[in-house]
Amino acid sequence: MNICCIGAGYVGGPTMAMIAHKNPSIEVTVVDINAERIAKWNSSELPIFEPGLNEVVQSTRGKNLFFSTEIDEAILRADIIFVSVNTPTKTYGVGAGRAADLKFVELCARRIASVVHTGKKIIVEKSTIPVRTAESIKKILKTNSNGAEFQVLSNPEFLAEGTAMADLENPDRILIGGDVATPEGNTAIETLVSIYEKWVTRDRIITTNLWSSELSKLVANAFLAQRISSINSISALCEATGADVDEVAFAVGRDSRIGPKFLKASVGFGGSCFQKDILNLVYLSEHFGLPEVAEYWNQVIKMNDWQKKRFGQKIVRSLFNTVSDKKIAIFGFAFKKDTNDTRESAAIYVCRDLLEEQAQVSIYDPQVGEERIVEALGSSGVSVSDDPYEAAKDAHAIAILTEWDEFKSLDFQRLYDNMMKPAFIFDGRNLLAINKLRKIGFEAHCIGK
Ligand code: NAD
Ligand code: UGA
Repeated sequence: MNICCIGAGYVGGPTMAMIAHKNPSIEVTVVDINAERIAKWNSSELPIFEPGLNEVVQSTRGKNLFFSTEIDEAILRADIIFVSVNTPTKTYGVGAGRAADLKFVELCARRIASVVHTGKKIIVEKSTIPVRTAESIKKILKTNSNGAEFQVLSNPEFLAEGTAMADLENPDRILIGGDVATPEGNTAIETLVSIYEKWVTRDRIITTNLWSSELSKLVANAFLAQRISSINSISALCEATGADVDEVAFAVGRDSRIGPKFLKASVGFGGSCFQKDILNLVYLSEHFGLPEVAEYWNQVIKMNDWQKKRFGQKIVRSLFNTVSDKKIAIFGFAFKKDTNDTRESAAIYVCRDLLEEQAQVSIYDPQVGEERIVEALGSSGVSVSDDPYEAAKDAHAIAILTEWDEFKSLDFQRLYDNMMKPAFIFDGRNLLAINKLRKIGFEAHCIGK
């Protein structure tokens, strides 16, 4: 069997590396229009940082895993074509700011139809897309094909960045949606099942109709984000009442019906998908005439925006209502630890608010380089350092915005000694032992305490 994956991003790269690793007899080619990205996949410095990824790529690349810009050739050779391109929020026209932009997915469908003229192919939606997208893909394939037969499956990806390889190796479930009403649809589903069955037990492989599969992905992300917004809303109440949000989360999470995960209060969730997928759900709900449902989910986003804003405002208020020309050290720019991804990172919003107040932000992140930071913030008032002690030298405050483990073992006495006084620290991740910081002399603030 031969597999092609269109889109060599955070999902396409790791997912295909795992499939190749677990299926040595299958040739897997990951293609992309971005030649620079493909060159990096073929180099010793992969385009994305993900623990464990390098080892899997090293063991498969050049054997049964290939990265290429020869898209048509790979499509032609493949029996199964995964579409794993980006589906960002639309920035123009109808649905701007909410609907998913399916331009890239549609381009892939049109390209497949224009290249493939004979035989049977299975097209797998790996990208996260609105419910009923498969219908559009089917129509494009059908009306543009010259005799080839296509089956469209939905196989959404549930990996989280930073733990992608562990998630792929040991997934809670694999979800495959297809045309369950026809024998051809069921055969296609079984073909995809056989690939995952090489390492995932059958009881964890769920098969459904296409629309359930597409919608489940959006709903899973919405439920996860909703938990974070729920606990973040309570963090504000904790600050007002003297309760401790970590203690509340622990006590609440011990109820087996609720469970302990995704109850960590923070400066706000980020990442390329939570916001985009909920906005998409909101848009779909409105589209189907369900404004109450739309408003219910929209509140998850509103609460997250408020939490990010609240954090920046707390910094300004604590620093005597002005941060103008004050140096603020920002520790962490990635949207979570163990990734170099900064898309929708809370750090971007907090920094923008501080820059608006004319602060000088001095940023340190173990994995995010200057280019990406300047791309997000511009260069005015922004400096980037590859050393946390340098970043915090002569600063009035440190703000922890990503929960990198290495921040826990920094020498805070040394940081304190070289800062302006009073020296403030704002822990947006409740990562540090706040009492120890206070003993050193810091005026320390965290979330929900
Ligand atoms: P990404 O931006 O990292 O990668 C997408 C890649 O597709 C890019 O390299 C881009 O150049 C390429 N591409 C776009 N159009 C193309 C075309 N017509 N032909 C060839 N290549 C093309 O995106 P990502 O983070 O990998 O996300 C991909 C999809 O997976 C999205 O729908 C996202 O919602 C979903 N998803 C992402 C994650 C995650 O953790 N990032 C997890 C689950 C699902
Ligand atoms: C999330 C989902 O967890 C994945 O299942 C999904 O596949 C993916 O989105 C996607 O569709 O893209 P990801 O965004 O990579 O994965 O990372 P998460 O671990 O979910 O974290 C998202 C954000 O929420 C981060 O900013 C994180 O710091 C924050 N978070 C997470 C909290 O603030 N508190 C928590 O308790 C958990």
